[in-house]
Amino acid sequence: MSASALGTALVTGASSGIGATYADRLAKRGYDLLLVARDVSRLNALAEKLSAEQGIKVDVLPADLTRREDVRKVEQRLRDDEAITLLVNNAGIGPKGTLLEDDIDYLETMIELNVVAANRLAVAGAQTFAQRGKGAVINIASVVAFIPERFNGTYSATKAFVLNLTHALHAEAGPKGVKVQAVLPGLTRTEIFERAGGSFDRFPPSMVMDVTDMVDAALAGFDQGEVITIPSLPAIADFEAYTAARHALGPNLSHDKPAGRYGLAKA
Ligand SMILES: NC(=O)c1ccc[n+]([C@@H]2O[C@H](COP(=O)([O-])OP(=O)(O)OC[C@H]3O[C@@H](n4cnc5c(N)ncnc54)[C@H](OP(=O)(O)O)[C@@H]3O)[C@@H](O)[C@H]2O)c1
Repeated sequence: MSASALGTALVTGASSGIGATYADRLAKRGYDLLLVARDVSRLNALAEKLSAEQGIKVDVLPADLTRREDVRKVEQRLRDDEAITLLVNNAGIGPKGTLLEDDIDYLETMIELNVVAANRLAVAGAQTFAQRGKGAVINIASVVAFIPERFNGTYSATKAFVLNLTHALHAEAGPKGVKVQAVLPGLTRTEIFERAGGSFDRFPPSMVMDVTDMVDAALAGFDQGEVITIPSLPAIADFEAYTAARHALGPNLSHDKPAGRYGLAKA
């Protein structure tokens, strides 16, 4: 059981970067924490620090989320532990290079983590919270969901998956009391590129956000009830115009006859 009135936040990929920063910020808000990642010593160090600093309860659940049995273990905890009120579905890996340069087996591992595990936990969280009539799921996507021509296609596609999943979960679980948000960071200074053998040095510093700024903006968006939060985007009107154009396609996406431009009209 959680002693916190806010309950427990389950954060995946909590051992570094964005996940560790969410853990810090949520601890400061008074959440108890359940930290998930592979690196047990880093998770334990963070757990000790945050429980000492904030007087909250922090548990550690080691899991390799590319292993389906480990994902099921985390899913089971999510379903069974009634103290859990928030899932931060964050664990993910980035690309090693462009699609034509990348290792196809590594790309499949990326799908296993960024898509298969993320989907399983997001859906399990939404199902569980919908039954209880309350709870929240924060999915970490990326702005590259919008620019597939300019980034590794498999990575971009994993993040487009998370974005679409979030829209659908919000539509279905929102009316049942579940708060759903996708966060779309731009470049954010973490270990992500170093882990994949790269670095942030190839990007202009003006494009790279500090991780605490990114997470603080994302949590501000969460507090404001945003479903999609894009911390870098200056004018929300740009995203609203994009969304309006997407919705405008709706009435014409399925008809009984092909469009006239294909020249198939029967006399
Ligand atoms: N940084 C950016 O520019 C950026 C931009 C947009 C979106 N994102 C997204 O933000 C999320 C967090 O990335 P980050 O930038 O914070 O990178 P990071 O510093 O490399 O952190 C990644 C986290 O995921 C965990 N992880 C990696 N493989 C795992 C596995 N097999 N099983 C369980 N946990 C695993 C890592 O922990 P262990 O190694 O201990 O397992 C670590 O805690 C990712 O979904 C990423 O795609 C990042």
